[in-house]
Amino acid sequence: MKFKDYIASVSRSRGSRIILALDLSMLPRDEGFWSLKERAMKILSLVSQYICAVKINMQLLLPLGLYGGVSDIVDLAHDLGIPAIIDCKLSDVGHTNLWATKHYFEAGFDAIIVNPMVGWSEGVEPVFEVAKEYGGRGVILLTYMSHKASPESYELPVYVEGGFKPLYMLFAERALKWGADGVVVGATYPEKIREVKKLLGDYIPIYTPGVGFQGGDVKNCLDAGSEYFIVGRAIFQADEPEVAAKRFRDVSWV
Ligand code: XMP
Repeated sequence: MKFKDYIASVSRSRGSRIILALDLSMLPRDEGFWSLKERAMKILSLVSQYICAVKINMQLLLPLGLYGGVSDIVDLAHDLGIPAIIDCKLSDVGHTNLWATKHYFEAGFDAIIVNPMVGWSEGVEPVFEVAKEYGGRGVILLTYMSHKASPESYELPVYVEGGFKPLYMLFAERALKWGADGVVVGATYPEKIREVKKLLGDYIPIYTPGVGFQGGDVKNCLDAGSEYFIVGRAIFQADEPEVAAKRFRDVSWV
């Protein structure tokens, strides 16, 4: 089964569009650092019934490592019936991308987030190839990020085939052309979600971070066309993460 269909079926069966960004952040000098993995696993278990996937980033990958580190969290996600996404925003040359992707998939990740800036040939082509080799793993492309400086880069006009278009629309077109499983568009720019949705239709789902802490509004983004909402600190830093996760689940599933 393709990743796009896998996450859609988990989403439907749980009635949730929420992806937990499990970004617990600690340094070795912090109390509790040596039980970081166990704490992360506890939160994942607590909220699992309200989410359709978990996303892991540098905050866990760097201190825990991959094999026997975050791979244990990926195994737990699978035991709980949800897919795991690695958010490494891969953006190197082909052979490095290829090996990074192999390691992530070998460790069990179901999908990978990639920066389309590097282009296809000797860029992300090997990532798509490895995703196929590993049996329908997903590739999700950054398209328009949620932070303040995002317009500085993502709106740069690029000259393609006789005309100008903003960089993010080129990235959205690449998602269609390359057969990506998703694109990331930030919640703080709902008008961009609407524009990208117009191009992608129902072919490629939009993953939206930036709700909660960054002030993006779930309802606005849902109306604009987002399919999945990536939520981190507003869930895992809550006194009762499962209550926060349920609240996000409830507003995202109408
Ligand atoms: P929070 O705690 O802000 O975590 O809910 C968001 C997660 O998503 C990752 N990510 C992004 N975050 N804008 C974001 O705010 C983006 O465009 C974006 N792309 C990915 C972020 O690193 C964190 O893991």
